[in-house]
Amino acid sequence: MKRALRTIFARAEALLEWGFGQRLNPLSCLGALGWYFFWIVAGSGIYLYIFFDTGITNAHASIEAMTHEQWYAAGIMRSLHRYASDALVVVALLHLLREYSLDRLRGKRFFAWLTGVPLLWFIYVCGITGYWLVWDKLAQMIAVATTEWLDTLPFFGEPIANNFLNSSTLSDRFFTLMVFMHIFAPLFMLFLMWLHIQRHAQARVNPPRELAIGTAVMLLLLSLAYPAVSQAPADLDVVPANVALDWYYLGVYPLLEVIPGGQLWLLLFGVTAVLAVLPWVPPAKIAPAAVVNLENCNGCGRCFQDCPFSAITMLPRSDGMAYAVEAVVNTDNCVSCGICVGACPTATPFRRATAIVAGIELPEFSIAGLRAQTMAANAGEPGTPRVLVYACEHSEAESLRAPGTSVITMPCVAMLPPAFIDFALSRGHADGVMLAGCAQGDCHYRLGDVWTQQRIDGARDPYLRQRVARERLAISWLAGKPKRRQQVLDEFRSRLRSLPPRSKTRQSDRA
Ligand code: HEM
Ligand code: SF4
Ligand code: SF4
Repeated sequence: MKRALRTIFARAEALLEWGFGQRLNPLSCLGALGWYFFWIVAGSGIYLYIFFDTGITNAHASIEAMTHEQWYAAGIMRSLHRYASDALVVVALLHLLREYSLDRLRGKRFFAWLTGVPLLWFIYVCGITGYWLVWDKLAQMIAVATTEWLDTLPFFGEPIANNFLNSSTLSDRFFTLMVFMHIFAPLFMLFLMWLHIQRHAQARVNPPRELAIGTAVMLLLLSLAYPAVSQAPADLDVVPANVALDWYYLGVYPLLEVIPGGQLWLLLFGVTAVLAVLPWVPPAKIAPAAVVNLENCNGCGRCFQDCPFSAITMLPRSDGMAYAVEAVVNTDNCVSCGICVGACPTATPFRRATAIVAGIELPEFSIAGLRAQTMAANAGEPGTPRVLVYACEHSEAESLRAPGTSVITMPCVAMLPPAFIDFALSRGHADGVMLAGCAQGDCHYRLGDVWTQQRIDGARDPYLRQRVARERLAISWLAGKPKRRQQVLDEFRSRLRSLPPRSKTRQSDRA
């Protein structure tokens, strides 16, 4: 199922990439788009509230006035409110499916998933109470169906559906409750959205500017072309015959026609429970967390700045060394991506092999081991130029392995300290180095692509030294695109062929 979903998303992404390019691909910005739509809904909602009459008798008329008399302002705001809400459902569901397909919920990454599940409920509560406030035929249908459905739960002493039997039993009470819910549910949802990203350093809550502007223009055009309108006013003495549904929010109501209310609750609670346990089913293999080697940690804080999962804290020194602080790993948050290792200035291969222990290391993937692999990679392989590919586990770059091309795989390309590129080239272990990461703007470990590029460009410590010939370096973010990746390698190889030959590996490094 995961694999099938992954294939579907990969195809859709490839299609969208034509129009949007990799960076602006909406499918890799779904979480950020969710935030964006939320703010549009909140802003337009506040505006509408100014003109909305919160009493049941005048609610419908006040909305009609906004829609028709003030179509150029409140009318547009109403349409924006509706269409951004619909878009929020779509992006939240796509985001859920995509994160699932990419397996970004397992093991220690469970937190965002677990807080995302109740978010779904809140989105629907906000939407349904919103439709209720219009108090038209659709709202009447929702009011009656929802209260009858709620009455199938064993929580309410008196049937709440009695409030909507006919116009004489109708009171403002329940309607006012809905107004409150429609205001407080989004506030609580905002709190959950904040909680949702608490384990993410520098969470992407804003879509790229061009995408944001394009989306706003699309919503505005849609609002002008198809303004949101109400149906006829509610009349409890007449059962609505036909109502047009908003399927994004109200798709559950037709189900009540075929499934008894109690069973539908069971089904929804069951689906929620299944979703909630997905991060642990089947149990994930959890790699051991990064470990700080205090004797090599100088407290520079680069690992703290680069960890995408807020798993590192800088605390006062505990070992009496002259530095003020030391790095401490929160093992509950650490997903073993190794990005901190790539950030650590002590993770350099330019030292005697016996002395190589970095300030922070992955227990299952040491810097000394990486150095040994680098030195062994192209040794004795025929064919020139010799290319050394440092790849991430999610890049599917193993297929590049061939005579003259070695591949060293690590959890994330950003685990590679830039000094290794210098080392491989200056010590003659390779004629060219290629970095093969997963996807630009969509790194499996969130920020690996950004940090890698900044380190190479000299914009972030530890940066790649100026002396490294950039023409001997290729970078590709092409997971799932083996042909294009191979093409990048072939082009790189022909570029290398046109360059002057490299000196041979220094024997002293082979020790
Ligand atoms: C209002 C709806 C939602 C919004 C606005 C939202 C927003 C976000 C944002 C901004 C991120 C961080 C992206 C990044 O910086 O890398 C994120 C990550 C994530 N979200 Fe959501 N989300 C929503 C709903 C959901 C739902 C319903 C689920 C699933 C049940 C979910 C599961 C996840 C997962 C698994 C991650 C990635 C965690 C990781 O990288 O470790 N989200 N979301
Ligand atoms: S391995 Fe990754 S998640 Fe763990 S501390 Fe290092 S950067 Fe953070
Ligand atoms: S990057 Fe290395 S030296 Fe700097 S604080 Fe982290 S572990 Fe210590």
